[in-house]
Parts: sequence; structure tokens; C-alpha cells
Amino acid sequence: MNSTRDTLEDKILDRSASVAILGLGYVGLPLATIFAEAGFNVIGVEPDSSKVEKLERGESYIQDVGSEQLAKLIQSGKLQATTDFSVLAEADAVSICVPTPLRKTGDPDLSFILVATDELAKYIHQGVVVVLESTTYPGTTREILLPKLTEASGLEVGKDFFLAFSPERVDPGRTDWTTYNTPKVIGGITPICSELASLWYQQALETVVPVSSAESAEMAKLLENTFRMINIGLVNEMAIMCDRLGLDVWEIIDAAATKPFGYMKFTPGPGLGGHCIPIDPLYLSWKLRALNYTARFIELASEINTGMPRYVVTKVQDALNEQMKPLKGSRVLVIGAAYKPDVDDIRESPALDIIGLLRQKGAEVDYHDPFIPEITHDDWILKSVPDVIEGASTADCVVIVTNHTAYDYPRILEEAQLIIDTRNALQVGGRSNSRVVKL
Ligand SMILES: NC(=O)c1ccc[n+]([C@@H]2O[C@H](COP(=O)([O-])OP(=O)(O)OC[C@H]3O[C@@H](n4cnc5c(N)ncnc54)[C@H](O)[C@@H]3O)[C@@H](O)[C@H]2O)c1
Repeated sequence: MNSTRDTLEDKILDRSASVAILGLGYVGLPLATIFAEAGFNVIGVEPDSSKVEKLERGESYIQDVGSEQLAKLIQSGKLQATTDFSVLAEADAVSICVPTPLRKTGDPDLSFILVATDELAKYIHQGVVVVLESTTYPGTTREILLPKLTEASGLEVGKDFFLAFSPERVDPGRTDWTTYNTPKVIGGITPICSELASLWYQQALETVVPVSSAESAEMAKLLENTFRMINIGLVNEMAIMCDRLGLDVWEIIDAAATKPFGYMKFTPGPGLGGHCIPIDPLYLSWKLRALNYTARFIELASEINTGMPRYVVTKVQDALNEQMKPLKGSRVLVIGAAYKPDVDDIRESPALDIIGLLRQKGAEVDYHDPFIPEITHDDWILKSVPDVIEGASTADCVVIVTNHTAYDYPRILEEAQLIIDTRNALQVGGRSNSRVVKL
């Protein structure tokens, strides 16, 4: 028996293991909270000092974590936050939840993983279990993290320390499936790594699903997100094809969705958004390019999805044209800027492209979003107009980009002169008419 492993196992089982979470964002903060609630002492290491200060005051900046719940954990000392990486010297279990964006070239940007791993490598010691949660291409845990952690320390994986990958599946804003009850896939570098990482996560989460390797866990996440991206691409193309055929895509989707088996409903929209679906599949296609393979489904879906904001702008232009108005100089109100309903996350939101394109064409653009008071993007800064109904009544054209549930859609329909409804938020039956243009 390996005594390092036994000691760690005991600490996990009696919850005396100190947990460190690197990166307290949409993924890391809920995870830190759940481990603290399960009885572990948790410390979050977050380079953004403004986030640390908020946490110290017991204020949550993530919608899915309530301030009251957070304040209790902070006051009891179960959850702490710091900018100081040296606390990793005392950690028994470390989870890495840093961003994995794309570079401007469309290639993976692993810089956050590299910096976090370099910091961890300075403090790694015998008897630690490390789990990477950031979405990335298959092979990252073994090819990038493992050498950095072993070369610096001389430790042996599976004997002195334990390393695994476990993808986060959180869907922000959702209350039925949360970090706690969404099954968690875990794959280790060695079988013992899988076992220890699973044991740790089992203490705080409802269901853990072990797989045979870190690569399987990495690839499972990419399959999930690629599946969504491709199906959204398919249904976006359906919308374009239905438009050409003079058909109402929304009616057709609802009809198809009555099939009780073999069909899953996806809806079209103004383009992909968020930190996951538009980005993660491109990590996979990038990796495959290096192996001389073209991931054709991903590239095609990506092309269709990234073309949607321009398609929406063409719809605005055509609808205004019908009313003898040029887009240049027309007042356009974009309703909803977040990438999906009822969240305050604007990362990769198609609203950014739509607003930018409308501005480029000389439209006078305003937006309204109850969750996003101000947007700074490229060379423009906009503030949300105070009243959506007033804004809708004075605009030449309204574009519904995000269908937040709080909006009074019947009022918007009553007040606006012309509406491009990219989400079927108004539920206007039939095809587009002279006042409402559906996607
Ligand atoms: N947001 C989601 O819905 C979601 C869902 C599933 C998976 N993911 C994946 O989880 C990962 C994290 O995403 P997120 O949405 O939480 O990002 P985020 O930007 O909200 O949070 C990441 C945090 O890491 C911090 N950070 C940056 N560099 C760091 C470092 N070197 N050490 C420690 N912390 C550092 C940042 O300041 C930030 O607070 C990404 O790989 C993402 O693809 C996100």
C-alpha cells in the first residue's frame, strides 16, 4: 500500500484535506462554495484583487452563488480568498478553473493554464491531488500539466501526487441542474489518480462518473459542446433555408419536436455566445489539424454560426428598406445583450457583433439589457437605455437578440414600429409580416 495515498484518502474522508481552487469565476466560485459546504476548508486563489475584496466582504459577483450563502461560509472561515499563490504549499487538493479562450488567430490560448500550472509547480508537494477543470483539447493534462509539475518537484505521478481532468458542465443561471447535482466525469493520469480525484469530488457532489484516462474526460467535454455547436449550426442553416422557401422555421421546429424519440429540439438564433460553445470545439479542431485531420463538421457549423450576426443585420437592412428607410441614420434598439436569457454574461455574445456591424453601417444604435448596464467593446462604449418600452417606441427598428424572461413582449410588440425577432420571443404566429420579421 502507498502510504502517501492512504494519508490523502484519510484526509479526504474526514474532510481535513485543505482545498485550493485556482480561479474564482463562473466555474471556480460555485465549486469552492460546494466544497466548503461539504465541510472542507477551502481557499480560492484569484489574481483579480477586486474579486478577492468582494468575497472578503461576503459579496458574490456570480449569479449562481447567493451572497447570503457566501457570507456565511466566509464568516465561518470555511471559505477564504487570496491573491497569494504561496497558500498552495499547504493545499492537499487543488482544482484549476482558469479561462481557456481563443487567440485572435482562432487558436487555443493556453496562457492561463500555463501560468496557473507554473505557480502550482512552485509549491507542489507530496500527497496532493490536482484536478484540471478548464475545458481544453485532449492531451493537455498529460502533455502540459504533468511535465511542469513533475520536472519542478521531482515527484512521481500516481505515487507522490495525483493528477486528473474533470470537465465542468455548469449551465449558468440554471437551477434544476447545478454544480452539485450535474454528474461529474473524472479521468486520471493513472488509475490511482482517477480514484483519488473521484473520492475527493464524491464528498461534495452527487454523482461522479470515472473514465479510464484524463484524455477520455477531456474528449467527453468536447463531444458534449461540439454536439451543441453542430446542432445549433444545423438549425441556423434550417432557418436560412426556410427563409428562402418562404416557410416559418419556428413552426417546423415545434412540429418536428412532437416526435417522441430520435429528435432533440434546438432553436436558431443570432449567433453563438458564451465562454464554451463557440470556443471549445475549436480547441478540438486545432488539435486535429496538428494530426493532419480536418474536423469538417466543426468548421462548417462554426462558419454558419459566426455568419448569423451578419445575417441578422441584413434582415434589419431589408426590413427598413421595405419602409423606405436606409439603415444609415436609422435608430436601432438592440434588446438583450447577454449571450443567453437571464444571465449577466456578455462573453462572445452575438449582440456585440450585431451592434458593431450596425454601427459600421451608420445606424444609431442603442441597447437595453436589465443585467448589463454598460458595454465596452472594440472602439465603442454604450450604456443600456433606461426604459426598454420608451426606447422601443422611439426606434426605427428593434432587434430582439436575447429573450430575457423579464421583458413585457406584448408591450414591446405594441410600441415598436418594426421588430426583428431573432428568438421568436414575441411568438407571433405565421411568417414575418410588415412589422415583425422573424429569423
Ligand atoms: N462559464 C461557463 O459556463 C463554463 C462552463 C463549463 C466549463 N467552463 C470552462 O471553465 C473554465 C473557466 O471558465 P469561467 O467561465 O469560470 O471563467 P472566468 O473568467 O469566469 O473565471 C476564471 C477566473 O480565473 C482567474 N485567473 C486567471 N488567471 C489565473 C491564474 N493564473 N491563477 C488563478 N486564477 C486565474 C480569472 O481572474 C477569473 O476570475 C474555462 O476553461 C471554461 O471553458 C466554463
